[in-house]
Amino acid sequence: MDEGLMKTYGRAAEVFVGGHGAVLTDSTGAEYLDFLAGIAVSALGHGHAELTRALRDQVGKVVHLSNLFRHPYTEQVATRLCALTDMAAAFFTNSGTEAMECAMKLARKAMAVRGTPERTSFVALEGGFHGRSLGALSLTWSEKYRKPFQPLQQVSWVAPEDTAALARVLERERPAALVLEPIQGEGGIRALSTEFLRAARELCNATGTLLIHDEIQSGCGRTGRFLAAQHAGVTPDIVTLAKPIAAGLPMGACLCVPALADTFQKGEHGSTFAGGPLVCRAALVFLDEIDRGLLGAVQDRGRQLHDGLLALQRELPIVREVRGRGLMLGLRLHHSAEAVQKELYRRHLMVNCTAGDVLRIVPPYVVTSAQVDRALQILASVLQQFPAQPVEKS
Ligand SMILES: Cc1ncc(COP(=O)(O)O)c(C=O)c1O
Repeated sequence: MDEGLMKTYGRAAEVFVGGHGAVLTDSTGAEYLDFLAGIAVSALGHGHAELTRALRDQVGKVVHLSNLFRHPYTEQVATRLCALTDMAAAFFTNSGTEAMECAMKLARKAMAVRGTPERTSFVALEGGFHGRSLGALSLTWSEKYRKPFQPLQQVSWVAPEDTAALARVLERERPAALVLEPIQGEGGIRALSTEFLRAARELCNATGTLLIHDEIQSGCGRTGRFLAAQHAGVTPDIVTLAKPIAAGLPMGACLCVPALADTFQKGEHGSTFAGGPLVCRAALVFLDEIDRGLLGAVQDRGRQLHDGLLALQRELPIVREVRGRGLMLGLRLHHSAEAVQKELYRRHLMVNCTAGDVLRIVPPYVVTSAQVDRALQILASVLQQFPAQPVEKS
């Protein structure tokens, strides 16, 4: 089944050939409710009419140029993203991981510019996930992912919500930056409290540490605001975005505040493909949908789904906790989430599991009210089949 591929993924057997909105169709014509959206990516769903039109048009004009030449869209996307995030400058990438690499290099260079080049380390949070390249992997908490590739960049870890420990580590280590996800995605849809996010900001200010928010999963409107940290009124120095930003095409961005905007000099960072005409055209379709009020739909469908999950928690002992915000939701179970996820998939509802016991539910922003009701029905009927039992953490 995986002939010719490195064995990094365990994939389902079905072959998917099409879709519309939050529905995917396999090669036999069977339909699935897509509440995973390609791991929190396909915000506009599948077969989006305006995206299709814009991409067809762009393919017939120019697909690739490199960053040595201008096209009409890079600067438009950059300025619109800066306005939405309160940032001053963007560097485009092809993935979330690359956005994290850019953020790490930017923080290290900023320390050198400030005259503190010895500040090369990072502090990150237990449970965090930031990617799998050597830099981003250093920040990623899971021992399982990091161990085969040591030694990595020096990183110290702090438990989420432990403000006192964070204060001690920042004071002692004087790192280049603190890196955190306002809502940990792979860590089990775990939201950091407003208090902790604000305390982290203040501690970074007090110790001259840069604050990097990884909003690759929580950003671009998934929680109902453009950035999850906007719910807490916290602005980082650097923010990374990716996943839905170009409605399914590979794109990421690292954005920074005015004080950091001139940190990189010519040649100090780069990418052949990033920010090209095709992905930027797709990003503009996504940003236009946001301007037309898509985040209102995220809030409404998010509330409907959240309420429905809370009702399941009241009825079914297997449900331990409802987590997350907007359309970034998690259902923590008293059971391994993998077995439940497999049964949900058999019933044609796509979700996945994180942190061993959490079902991650991240549908397209265009999911309909009827589709949310249908997903809740499938969840209820499948969860009823499983007894509550203790879970071994992965
Ligand atoms: C919070 C977070 N950071 C970074 C990444 C890595 O992004 P990518 O897979 O696009 O390289 C992910 C991917 O899941 C993520 O969720």
